Amino acid sequence: TYVIAQPCVDIKDRACVEECPVDCIYEGPRKLYIHPEECVDCGACEPVCPVEAVFYENDLPAEWRAYLTADAETAATIGSPGGAAGQEPFAEDHPVVAAEPLREK
Ligand code: F3S
Ligand code: F3S
Repeated sequence: TYVIAQPCVDIKDRACVEECPVDCIYEGPRKLYIHPEECVDCGACEPVCPVEAVFYENDLPAEWRAYLTADAETAATIGSPGGAAGQEPFAEDHPVVAAEPLREK
């Protein structure tokens, strides 16, 4: 799967959402989350993120390893709806995200 890491926090550019052919990028208050069971590893989201927040899991920098868990655990709370369109954003971010200091835009 691909993962959205710390650079997305408080930025949420959403260019990735437009590119994803399977609509598997879900929104939280401070970050977007890739659903690992719905992502087909097409990679289209990775080059369009202006802050380089998207990584293939094996390329995720070690300092952001917890984001793999954050995306997976957050996605697991909604099962597999098969697309973010029509889904309400998550009410809360994963604790890993919530713990990040606020970033000024
Ligand atoms: Fe975040 Fe980059 Fe997408 S900032 S919302 S991962 S385009
Ligand atoms: Fe979508 Fe990116 Fe996966 S575009 S299918 S979330 S690699």
